[in-house]
Amino acid sequence: MNKPKVYIPNYLPKEIVAYIEKYCTVETWKGEEDGELHKEELFKLLEDKEGAILTGMTIDDNLLSHAPKLKVVSNIAVGYNNFDLGAMKKRGVIGTNTPGVLDDSVADLVFSLLLASARRISELDAYVKAEKWKDSDNENLFGEDVHHKTLGIIGMGRIGEAIAKRGKLGFDMEILYCNRNRKPEVEESLGAKYEDLNSLLSKADFIVLMTPLTKETKGLIGYKEFELMKNTAIFINASRGQTINEAALLDALLKGKIYGAALDVFENEPINLDNPLLKLPNVITTPHIGTATAKTRFDMAMQAAENMVKALTGGTPANVVKELK
Ligand code: GLV
Repeated sequence: MNKPKVYIPNYLPKEIVAYIEKYCTVETWKGEEDGELHKEELFKLLEDKEGAILTGMTIDDNLLSHAPKLKVVSNIAVGYNNFDLGAMKKRGVIGTNTPGVLDDSVADLVFSLLLASARRISELDAYVKAEKWKDSDNENLFGEDVHHKTLGIIGMGRIGEAIAKRGKLGFDMEILYCNRNRKPEVEESLGAKYEDLNSLLSKADFIVLMTPLTKETKGLIGYKEFELMKNTAIFINASRGQTINEAALLDALLKGKIYGAALDVFENEPINLDNPLLKLPNVITTPHIGTATAKTRFDMAMQAAENMVKALTGGTPANVVKELK
């Protein structure tokens, strides 16, 4: 029997490619010097494919119209705001993601950002490297405590819970959260308190935004929301850039409405070097790498491969996104 044809990105670990090849005929993009894959080339590649791993690629009607045989699109990510769910549903294309394996790695990154921001690690690192050790021991460079402070988490999914656990058990923090549904188990195990958004924003010392990007969460944190925060608050975004109004964040930082921000995600990625946020010492940035440890990225890629293979060999993948089940 002919194996189903699939497109996979050319950077997957070889063990994972070997696994996929047991079940599928694989094609990767090997353009000139492995250059960027342009839309037209991708459309051509997808013409005869039944499955594809297309992390972050917009899966809309236009793409699907060039891929008439496609049955499954597998994301190596938990977020799937790149899926046009209506278009996929209409054509009966399954979408899968990689929840679970990445929760602790993302929570670790969020905590790194939180600590680095509170204790001004980037600024102080620059002092040491510029031979200004002595100048750095002054009150203008003192930071904020993390322990025993109040941590507000917007979006209490699996990652939110892993962040809450670190805050409560590691740093004796009080945990506030807001979420579509209450989480009695988190309230019980970590003493987390359910709050509405406005009250969380006004009470928390650290505000972590962890919601998926949907129609409802687009621009969730804007001028009004930054206005409600304490002027000692630190804002951390590790969800998607479009869940906040970046201009409002900049305004809040410039006017001293909040103490600082730590950002793993941006309205436009890669961020433009002219973005004024990059000029502010109280803004710490990372390049959307919440999941980027060697083990977690391997596990995510394997999970994505298994999801795709399962869909093409007559099974039901473990991680079909809920809207396409
Ligand atoms: C990363 O941003 C993910 O959605 O997994």
